[in-house]
Amino acid sequence: VALLREALEEHDYAYYVLAAPTISDRAYDKMMHELQQLEAAHPEYADPNSPTQRVGSDLTKGFTQVAHRIPMLSLSNTYSEDEVREFYNRVARTLDEPFEVVAELKYDGISISLIYEHGLLVRAVTRGDGVRGDDVTANVRTIRSIPLRLRGEGWPERLEMRGEVLLPWAEFERLNREREAQEEALFANPRNAAAGTLKLQDPRIVDSRRLDAYFYYVLGENLPADNHYDNLQAAREWGFKISNYIRLCRTPDEIMDYIAYWNRARHRLPVATDGIVLKVNALRQQRALGLTAKSPRWAIAYKFQAERAETR
Ligand code: IVH
Repeated sequence: VALLREALEEHDYAYYVLAAPTISDRAYDKMMHELQQLEAAHPEYADPNSPTQRVGSDLTKGFTQVAHRIPMLSLSNTYSEDEVREFYNRVARTLDEPFEVVAELKYDGISISLIYEHGLLVRAVTRGDGVRGDDVTANVRTIRSIPLRLRGEGWPERLEMRGEVLLPWAEFERLNREREAQEEALFANPRNAAAGTLKLQDPRIVDSRRLDAYFYYVLGENLPADNHYDNLQAAREWGFKISNYIRLCRTPDEIMDYIAYWNRARHRLPVATDGIVLKVNALRQQRALGLTAKSPRWAIAYKFQAERAETR
């Protein structure tokens, strides 16, 4: 327990403070999982400061903190297709009626929550610790693909859109070439670059970095549809960038085909992805499945195997 805690603390510091990760997400998740299991089996070693007790936080001083009306949960992760099938079977058993699954790409950026009141963007908040996040509205307003004013009709009076802020590969490479020329430290990956950019104090520099954003979750009262897929299509009409690669799946095999296809095709996308997300489509069925403390039972993330490993 002590060794795992110490190692995870080091990796957290490298990742969150230095923005220079020292291990793969997969190896990190594995250590975290092992520690969680040991702590569950040995409650006598409980410690409020254990890395398992800290929901990954991006809170930064200098930004006002805002409480999320609805906590920003994360998703349970898997790296195995068998576990995807287990997820499917568990949902089937619990619902005991037909259901559809929406398959989406998992964008590898920074989660963001946008609040629109009467069709106007009033606030943009980072995930933070899931309960409270940083108000980064001024920076987010510079992102050209984010509507400041909603288009079309049918949006709720108070709309919350959740999605991912991303730095496209081409911009990431341009930025690093620039930093190299200035002899500045390079960003490890587009996600770190996007995180660093969103937390800049000067929106003019943010503006010069050409961030982008994709949205994958619509929250509000009186939404246009009773299912996730159609609400996303409505949000596209409201002016949001919604992925063109969302598929409705009706069998586990359709899900496996989607995974197999994107495992290769994702390399041709302009932005970083690290997996796919599966969500039960009907909102009524989502409510029936409910949530655990950390993540919804109606969704799961399948992470791609990293295609590169270390050599000696
Ligand atoms: S759905 C309650 N869909 O992955 C459901 N998340 O641990 C909320 N992400 O924090 C998340 N692409 O930042 C969802 N298509 C997608 C996503 C996605 C990326 C991120 C998001 C979330 C994390 C899951």
